[in-house]
Amino acid sequence: MSTKNTPRTPFVGGNWKMNTNASEGAALIRSIVDGLGSTSVDVAVYPPFVYIREIAAITNGSSVQVGAQDLYHASNGAFTGEISTDMLKDCSVSTVLTGHSERRHVLQETNELVNQKTKAALNAGLTTVLCIGETLDQREHGKTDAVNEAQIRSGLDGVSKADLSNLIIAYEPVWAIGTGMTATPDDAQDAHHAIRELIANMYDQDAADAIRIIYGGSMKPANAGELLAMPDIDGGLIGGASLVAGDFGAIIEAANVRAATLVG
Ligand code: PGA
Repeated sequence: MSTKNTPRTPFVGGNWKMNTNASEGAALIRSIVDGLGSTSVDVAVYPPFVYIREIAAITNGSSVQVGAQDLYHASNGAFTGEISTDMLKDCSVSTVLTGHSERRHVLQETNELVNQKTKAALNAGLTTVLCIGETLDQREHGKTDAVNEAQIRSGLDGVSKADLSNLIIAYEPVWAIGTGMTATPDDAQDAHHAIRELIANMYDQDAADAIRIIYGGSMKPANAGELLAMPDIDGGLIGGASLVAGDFGAIIEAANVRAATLVG
């Protein structure tokens, strides 16, 4: 199974989830920024909403982008507890996650809501990381590709080819998130390749060759190199390991090696 060796810039995102406090977050982002030499990788961190401004003040002038873990699709109004894209942009946010498995499975977000959020984020010009992936039960019943396809088709309903250039798909098998279990590089590659073929089918081959498809689910320094050596794995969305600056830096370095290989 091979894919055209298109030099897609690798993307590594750190999803801090509901972790850190103000001082821990500040210390973490300082170490990440300080440890980041010149890199050919797009790097982003997704801190909790309430710390975004402080984190953005520290990343200012560096190449680390600051993102949000979620958004609400309405622009303003009576939506208690929710945060709009304008508010996020006001806080220097340039990228956002949609459809993360914890939002789908813990917070009960539907495909329809994920689609509304994805479109709102893209309309606002935010780099949008649409997260998809199957549960263990679905994998064991051979439904991995069907689940990914259903989540992508509904997530991207109404999204134009032009908007797709600001979208990243994160394939995150639910059973691998936060469990220490990782998809094998071959299994992850198969899923990523099927996703790329689906994008070719829904849009066209150019869109499929250009879109970044990143892997998430217990990615760490020990397995990042082999995952990022696969032709269709364009980066990673990192949870646990992104809370340790050295580990996050090592994963960025593995993505840097990928970038050098693709260009070279
Ligand atoms: P993990 O989380 O790296 O802790 O498995 C990944 C994610 O949820 O994005």
